[in-house]
Amino acid sequence: MKIACIGGGPAGLYFAISMKLRDSSHDIQVFERNPPGVTFGWGVVFSDLTVDNITRNDPASAATITQEFAHWDDIDVHFKGETITSGGHGFIGIGRKRLLEILRDRARELGVALHFNAECDPGDPKWRDFDLVIASDGANSRFRDARAKAFRVDVDVRANKFVWLGTSKVFDAFTFAFEETEHGWIWAHAYRFASDCSTFIVECSEETWHRFGFDRMSQEESIAACEKLFARYLDGHSLQSNASHLLGSAAWLNFRRIKCERWSAGNVILLGDAAHTAHFSIGSGTKLALEDAIKLADVLNRPGLSLEAALDEYQAERSLEVLKLQNSARNSTEWFETLERYTHFEPLQFAYSLLTRSQRISHENLRLRDREWLETVERWFWKRATDGKSNKTAPPMFAPLKLRDLTVENRIVVSPMDMYSAVDGTPNDFHFVHYGERAIGGAGLIFTEMTCVSPEGRISPGCTGMWNADHVAAWKRIVDFVHAQSKAKICLQLGHSGGKGSTGLGWEGSDLPLADGNWPVVAASNVQWSPVNQVPKPMTRADMDQVREQFVAAVRMGIEAGFDMIELHAAHGYLLSGFITPLQNRRTDEYGGSLENRLRYPLEVFAAMRAAWPSDRPMSVRISATDWAGEDGITPEDAVLIGEAFAREGADLIDVSAGQTWAGQEPVYGRMFQTPFSDRVRNEGKLATMAVGNIYEPDHANSILAAGRADLVALARPHLVDPFWTLRAAAQLDYRDIYCPPQYLNGLSQLARNLKREAEANTAALRV
Ligand SMILES: Cc1cc2nc3c(=O)[nH]c(=O)nc-3n(C[C@H](O)[C@H](O)[C@H](O)COP(=O)(O)OP(=O)(O)OC[C@H]3O[C@@H](n4cnc5c(N)ncnc54)[C@H](O)[C@@H]3O)c2cc1C
Ligand SMILES: Cc1cc2nc3c(=O)[nH]c(=O)nc-3n(C[C@H](O)[C@H](O)[C@H](O)COP(=O)(O)O)c2cc1C
Repeated sequence: MKIACIGGGPAGLYFAISMKLRDSSHDIQVFERNPPGVTFGWGVVFSDLTVDNITRNDPASAATITQEFAHWDDIDVHFKGETITSGGHGFIGIGRKRLLEILRDRARELGVALHFNAECDPGDPKWRDFDLVIASDGANSRFRDARAKAFRVDVDVRANKFVWLGTSKVFDAFTFAFEETEHGWIWAHAYRFASDCSTFIVECSEETWHRFGFDRMSQEESIAACEKLFARYLDGHSLQSNASHLLGSAAWLNFRRIKCERWSAGNVILLGDAAHTAHFSIGSGTKLALEDAIKLADVLNRPGLSLEAALDEYQAERSLEVLKLQNSARNSTEWFETLERYTHFEPLQFAYSLLTRSQRISHENLRLRDREWLETVERWFWKRATDGKSNKTAPPMFAPLKLRDLTVENRIVVSPMDMYSAVDGTPNDFHFVHYGERAIGGAGLIFTEMTCVSPEGRISPGCTGMWNADHVAAWKRIVDFVHAQSKAKICLQLGHSGGKGSTGLGWEGSDLPLADGNWPVVAASNVQWSPVNQVPKPMTRADMDQVREQFVAAVRMGIEAGFDMIELHAAHGYLLSGFITPLQNRRTDEYGGSLENRLRYPLEVFAAMRAAWPSDRPMSVRISATDWAGEDGITPEDAVLIGEAFAREGADLIDVSAGQTWAGQEPVYGRMFQTPFSDRVRNEGKLATMAVGNIYEPDHANSILAAGRADLVALARPHLVDPFWTLRAAAQLDYRDIYCPPQYLNGLSQLARNLKREAEANTAALRV
């Protein structure tokens, strides 16, 4: 085949090499606009896995590359005058210039024709003479943009400013240096890539950048300002740029995240940064470019595969890899963009949060990398959780949490789950066993299902209630069992279904009206949940008084039943949530319109409940932190304001859920998918929060807690099939101090022994 590679970066050169290795008869020409040796940037980092991949593909170039690698293990985080060092991270770096030199030499040796000083124009008719034109012309690809529609290009220009500099100061560790200045936070990512050279990327928010006046500075002035700012890390070494002639004046950029829906159009194929970019803070752009090149060369040379099928396979496999990386990169990018959310953290927790920012590295990953450092974090966590009383080194999920005078034994919570199994609101033997079993299963706190304050406030005929003496007695039986037979605390979730009421049992078409026996429903406004649901009656002031008093009466009954805590359910589109979300609340009185107005009634109800509930016992509120409706609905930014408003009325914990507030929602599901909302409410609002939503591994819980993304971690569905989730986690993590009913102790120790033996066997197998 006759192939043109536009751009002599890692992607273009490595593709040319990979094609020649597979079939030396290919005519491959690389066109690079710059002279040899002129490039932007300094060093790039690789992982061990990338090294394996390039070694398998071309042992010759891999051998030269690996010989020249700079290796380092530690990460240093400089923050608020402290340096936090953690080890075991295993990075490998090489200068970009040197990498390209090695690839150029290898390409030449294999017979690739290299043309330098060759600016290519996508409109030039000569490209028609080539069977394939590889657009490996980087993030600002002209060849991609010339057919942007065909490739369906999506560009997301990120908020922060960065500049990629170099220095002769040799950093022993991968260094993050955070500086607080009168203009805001500014920080550097620095790492060695040769024996005498380091990369030094400076980053800050756009506001800080303007306040510094970087927008008005020449390149020399910018660099001088950065040298002054980071003088204490540079030990007299200067900073240099090698990009000005390539990237414009002072070379400050906003990172551009690029995605393409199609990776080929006509005879043009996208490769490397032209097809996709991943934020520099996870350092994987070059790896992706090299792996794209290997895959594309593979499919193009596979006998019997048509070009169309080859390109389909190339895109299908590579775009999946890219998607995974771009997801992690997005988390990492957002962490740096919202840095000030975390700057109130103590240095140790700040460093932990930084290390786990992409969610690719978890608590147990960190233990494998540097056990001693992780144990320092665990000790710090326990000390803080116990006002300095405990010196324990143990997973954060087992540390207690104090809310007012209530101490929750550990941080795992059974999330509220409607069992749809009550008759006339009265919990029965099913509920007794269900809650009892989950209490002895080890969780620190058990939530009841949404327990309704009136018969009309039920979601379905099977919902539990708290409006008469039978309910109090039935709940008291459950609460007494929990208190007598476990260390768990129990929280009563109170709610009113509003416009989502009078529907079927969970497994009989939840949200659908009953076949018969429907009762009239009330809500903030007459907005139907869906065309088949009832049109709710908008609440009058008298209705509002009545429902508020029903909540207060239920709280009083909760005291009688002996509950430790009360939660107000103001999420998921039920009555109070329906007041808060603009998607349901269309009122024109003082309870509709602005967020302040929409919150007025839910806050009134909460305040009345708080006044009735003992002041030494905590209360929480469950909120939907987003309507998954963009700016038309509740946004995560609103969620912080909502959390703060309830906290002002005496809420001790915000239970941060999301969505279910309108029928058309399209949530972005995934592992721990709602935790970012908890993180935001907790760290912007400075409030205690509970995270929930697809959290299912002990490792998730520990990472969330240690990174300060929540104070409690709730699991719903995992507890449906495994009431003993927490005891099992204790066995898995070899934590002995958890309360286990004496009747079950034997089982717990046997499980712990078996799991330990299995883990040891797995480690031994890995060593072999
Ligand atoms: C600040 C920063 C730090 C980074 N750190 C890392 C890291 O640590 N690890 C990592 O793996 N990646 C890192 N990257 C990403 C990495 O640089 C890219 O992902 C990688 O270079 C992609 O390779 P490429 O060949 O696709 O594109 P490029 O390296 O951009 O190469 C494109 C080439 O095409 C040439 N070209 C463009 N247009 C034309 C034209 N019209 N005619 C002729 N030639 C043209 C350009 O001159 C260039 O040489 C970083 C990026 C940035 C911005
Ligand atoms: C069967 C079932 C019933 C639920 N009932 C309630 C409820 O009564 N009150 C509430 O606030 N959330 C309820 N939820 C939502 C859960 O508390 C939780 O927020 C959600 O399931 C996400 O957590 P998970 O991924 O751990 O399951 C229910 C969830 C399930 C699966």
